[in-house]
Amino acid sequence: MSVLKIEGGRPLNGKIKVQGAKNSALPILAATLLSRGGCEIRNCPRLKDVESAGKILAYLGCRVKRDGDAVFVDTTDLDRFDIPDGLMREMRSSVIFLGAIVGRAGEAKMSYPGGCELGPRPIDLHLSALRAMGVDIQEEGGMIICKADKLKGANISLAFPSVGATENAMLAATAAEGTTRIQNAATEPEIVDLQDFLNACGAVVRGAGTNMIEIQGARNMYPCKHDVIPDRIAAATFLCAVACAGGDIRLEGVNSTHLDSVLSILAEAGLRLEVRGDTIRAAKISGLARVGPVRTMPYPGFPTDAQAPVMAVMATARGCTIFVENIFDNRYRHVGELIRMGADIRVEGKVAIVNGVPTLSSATLNSTDLRGGAALVVAALGAEGESCVCDVNHIDRGYESVETALLELGAKIKRVDE
Ligand code: EPZ
Repeated sequence: MSVLKIEGGRPLNGKIKVQGAKNSALPILAATLLSRGGCEIRNCPRLKDVESAGKILAYLGCRVKRDGDAVFVDTTDLDRFDIPDGLMREMRSSVIFLGAIVGRAGEAKMSYPGGCELGPRPIDLHLSALRAMGVDIQEEGGMIICKADKLKGANISLAFPSVGATENAMLAATAAEGTTRIQNAATEPEIVDLQDFLNACGAVVRGAGTNMIEIQGARNMYPCKHDVIPDRIAAATFLCAVACAGGDIRLEGVNSTHLDSVLSILAEAGLRLEVRGDTIRAAKISGLARVGPVRTMPYPGFPTDAQAPVMAVMATARGCTIFVENIFDNRYRHVGELIRMGADIRVEGKVAIVNGVPTLSSATLNSTDLRGGAALVVAALGAEGESCVCDVNHIDRGYESVETALLELGAKIKRVDE
């Protein structure tokens, strides 16, 4: 297992290019199944989750090849429609393949995606959307077995603007006869990126980015080349790093409009931010101060994925910051590790009360999940002394070689395989 050894208390300086968005690349890799031939997915981040998606595509019979920052997927010889349990367990968001496999093959079989560190991850909204399009779904023995003799367009209303359910409905709908409308759709930028990819493959999808998406189905789909949007959560994480460690950095290749809610919170705390085109400059001029309640919400509200890194910042901001985690049931697992560094945080259900302390102390820390682990790296960068962040495999799921990026910014960090 790898650990990251981080010598904190050193300001960050310099510039880095922000990686492509994990949560855009994954549904787009699934969407390649909807056309026969070779797609080129560029700005595709080198992540464990992207590798897992590649393994699933290869298992299904596709040819998958990485060449620099692009992943090539040729789906011509697809000859399976099931995902084995081991691959499902490698990445719980593999459920995003369901709509694409049903759309391509008319049937699909996979094990129920288990819960994860964030708590139970139900997929009832995914399944009800597929059933509305005529998919027969049997759930037995922990397996999901789907059959659709004929997918038909439907009017779908999501009880919650679920990102994954929206994506699965969009993917299946491109293969359905007729028009599908998705009401109360998720509006995240990654949904817009998926729409752009599908339309580049010949689909007719409109409305992504709003809560009503319309898909004209059963069109002739063909492969395409696509550039994945920048990762707004990775960008937010590096902004939190300089907010903790101090210094003056530039993030390049970012779409700042995708992280407005995070930028406003960090600016309110006192981080100096300057947006120029696709670059964000962030400098810590003085100590940071508390901010108004941080409530995680569906986009464009404050993103749940940025809650943990921002909490690491607020742990040493003057005053008391209240967090309310409205999206996931169990997304405060990083709190115990921050407390071990001297943070003063109390959790009451969905609410976390963070009383800022002057500084955190280095410690040996366990990553609990992807964004919780990133929060510990952020905190360690600002803490006095050398911290050791363990279970880096969680972090590698969503950040492209986090130590390389931080070394470029002047951090004293190294990966040690233990
Ligand atoms: C996506 O997960 C992201 N993952 C998550 O990022 C992100 O936190 C989340 O959206 C919210 O923005 C990917 O895109 C791969 P949801 P997803 O369906 O689609 C409940 C990261 O760190 N729900 O919008 O699983 C669910 O339990 C990851 O990069 C149902 O009840 O999120 C949760 O409480 C973590 N029934 C809420 O909705 C369903 O059928 C939001 O889930 C589906 C979801």
